[in-house]
Amino acid sequence: MLEYVVKRMRDMVSDLQDEYVMELFEEIPMGKMLRSKLILQIAPKEESVDICAIIELIHMASLLHDDVIDEADTRRGKASMNAKEGNKSAIMLGDILYSKAFYELSQLPQPLPKIISKAVASLSLGELLDVRLSKSFNTDIQKYLDMIYKKTASLIEASAISAAILANKDAKSYGVYGKNLGLAFQIVDDILDIVSDEKTLGKPALSDFKEGKTTLPYIYLYEALDEEGKEYLKSLFKKELSREERSWLMKAFEKTGALENSKQYAKELGEEALAQLHEDDAKLREIMTALIDRTY
Ligand code: FPP
Ligand code: MG
Repeated sequence: MLEYVVKRMRDMVSDLQDEYVMELFEEIPMGKMLRSKLILQIAPKEESVDICAIIELIHMASLLHDDVIDEADTRRGKASMNAKEGNKSAIMLGDILYSKAFYELSQLPQPLPKIISKAVASLSLGELLDVRLSKSFNTDIQKYLDMIYKKTASLIEASAISAAILANKDAKSYGVYGKNLGLAFQIVDDILDIVSDEKTLGKPALSDFKEGKTTLPYIYLYEALDEEGKEYLKSLFKKELSREERSWLMKAFEKTGALENSKQYAKELGEEALAQLHEDDAKLREIMTALIDRTY
């Protein structure tokens, strides 16, 4: 069914009757389509394709903007839109995809438009919080969790709730599953930024800290270090690291168990989500397990 979602997205963009926009859209790599996979698992029917296409377009638009904000040169191993076409075109393409998605959303019966549009406001608030938190070294776990809930988990949660409504299933338990899947996904992403390499990531490794993002592993690391270590870690914040500095950082992660603790946190979120599932949700179980295992 995922190919129907891609086709529906293409049809929506082609409705705009703009060759340049179509050309740019075709250049964007599709990604994992996690949100559509989730929706189609909960509500495997033709009726779900529209909401999948809408959510994927919104997600795509948010990443176009995110790459401008993060000044990222690559996305999914390819040159980002801002790197290829400049910030102005990347922002406008994001706006175009986002408004077309909202037009389509407005054609769907309530409560789907309410649920999704509320999540998109949250997504934007989360991104703004991310920008604000990146201005200084954040050591507050609650602020980090609030930010990743808004930035990443809210749209995944809204996808799961919408699908449950479409399938006449329990929206509350699927909502918890979606929320925890989203939180765990972002934490795993933040761990991979540290443990993975450029080839696998499709972007340079250790880029979060350089961009000012003190993600969960850095917060745990900070908590575990002595005063001298804390000061040294702070001195590396937002810097292009030398080989020696990288090696100190990686050893400190190892010594303090900060990465292991972050993995454990994601795992617990996963387990809490799995507790919400029913026996016939084997595939949703698999999605969560595969996500957690990405770190190992
Ligand atoms: C990626 O985070 C960014 C997001 C999940 C959300 C971005 C949201 C916005 C820009 C606001 C909403 C905008 C529209 C048009 C709806 P990241 O930088 O941590 O992840 P990355 O490594 O994939 O870049
Ligand atoms: Mg980014």
